Amino acid sequence: MTKSQKIEHTWDTIKKAYPKKTLVFSDGSPDSQIMIVGEAPGKDEEKQGKPFVGRAGRLLNATLEALGWQRSDFYVSNIVKYRPQDQYGKTLTPTPEEIEKFRPELEKEIAIINPELIVVLGRIAMTGLGIEGTMSQNHGQVIEKNGRKILVVYHPAAILRNPNWGHKFRKGLAKIKELL
Ligand code: URA
Repeated sequence: MTKSQKIEHTWDTIKKAYPKKTLVFSDGSPDSQIMIVGEAPGKDEEKQGKPFVGRAGRLLNATLEALGWQRSDFYVSNIVKYRPQDQYGKTLTPTPEEIEKFRPELEKEIAIINPELIVVLGRIAMTGLGIEGTMSQNHGQVIEKNGRKILVVYHPAAILRNPNWGHKFRKGLAKIKELL
């Protein structure tokens, strides 16, 4: 079985577990050495069925392009595969319980892709992968966890809120080059 087929199989399991949810799975190349992991899809992602396609995603793409990559060079996914929302449809941050529920499938996904490097975007994805500490301590650092190299980078949505952190974001992502 190819990696794509194995990944599709994982999605089938998730679809069965969440028949009523609009699910958003991964994008990019399952054969990439680099896996980018975010927290959960937002409204734009839910509409288009792909991770990181809204404003934060566009900033991520533009920064990767400025560093000489195409987004399709990466495998891009989220921990939680649906948009967490309240009863009024407002997007919420995934709860620790939601992250826990998706952890076994995320671990399978990581095992299938078997990336040289995982890039986690933001605090939620960082803690979801079991990394302790704050974002300001860990941003731009590579942390070894369960035999995997994990680079911690700010979430692009945080850069949209604090545009003066743009250079730090770019520097964090630029570390990918040093790590392969
Ligand atoms: N934020 C995320 O963490 N993931 C997405 O797919 C979009 C925004």
